[in-house]
Amino acid sequence: MTTAIVIGATGLVGKALVGQLLDDARFDQVVVLVRRATGRTHAKLTEHLVDFNKPESWSQLVKGDAAFSAMGTTRAQAGSVAAQRIVDYDYQYAFAKAAKQNGVPAFALVSSSGANASSLVAYSKMKGELERDVTALNFERFYVLRPGLLAGEREKSRTGEVFAEAILKGITGLGVLRDWRPIQGAQVARAMVNLVVSKGPSRVVGAGACFTVAAG
Ligand SMILES: NC(=O)c1ccc[n+]([C@@H]2O[C@H](COP(=O)([O-])OP(=O)(O)OC[C@H]3O[C@@H](n4cnc5c(N)ncnc54)[C@H](OP(=O)(O)O)[C@@H]3O)[C@@H](O)[C@H]2O)c1
Repeated sequence: MTTAIVIGATGLVGKALVGQLLDDARFDQVVVLVRRATGRTHAKLTEHLVDFNKPESWSQLVKGDAAFSAMGTTRAQAGSVAAQRIVDYDYQYAFAKAAKQNGVPAFALVSSSGANASSLVAYSKMKGELERDVTALNFERFYVLRPGLLAGEREKSRTGEVFAEAILKGITGLGVLRDWRPIQGAQVARAMVNLVVSKGPSRVVGAGACFTVAAG
């Protein structure tokens, strides 16, 4: 019995990830913790509506063989850097801590290109701090995915990202800024699944390498 536990399941990467896990015969159960319903029904899917501000009410649900976080927000959506950090650090760290406490052996995290705990850029700093602190939890296997710009169909289009995608496609096509090249959310999800299934050693995977993570 292989159980995956997912947060961020309604997002670009998370939605693709849940679809891939449900279609994958190597996973028997997919448990998602969400603040709003995914709208999906599937025999393998268990959905829990939770309040991420109250980890004590959901931490016992984070049990299984592999935990995946594809959660995140933007400063614009959250309203401030402090509010963004609650989603991009606090909720995800609480999830990782619960997974560790409950004996989950593997954790896969969508981080970002440029993640660096010492960065002067707030977003890169919070991503780097999360990577650093989850690393310190000492999972048997911890996989970090660092996409540049995520591409794919969103429920709500983000004009800035569409614009950035067009520019970055041009620049990275010239062979520079390889780790910022746009990548499909589904491709990041595929790399997460492959890494977890491969049971290989802990790894940080840059955007370029996301394209080449071999199937497990
Ligand atoms: N977008 C990019 O170009 C880009 C580039 C590099 C790295 N990343 C990182 O990659 C990860 C996945 O990105 P994505 O574009 O797939 O994300 P997304 O489409 O924006 O989805 C984010 C997920 O996080 C959840 N979430 C956001 N705020 C929440 C809150 N306050 N409480 C509970 N859940 C909340 C969303 O739930 P709801 O549906 O309920 O809002 C959704 O499931 C994120 O960590 C992001 O920072 C993104």
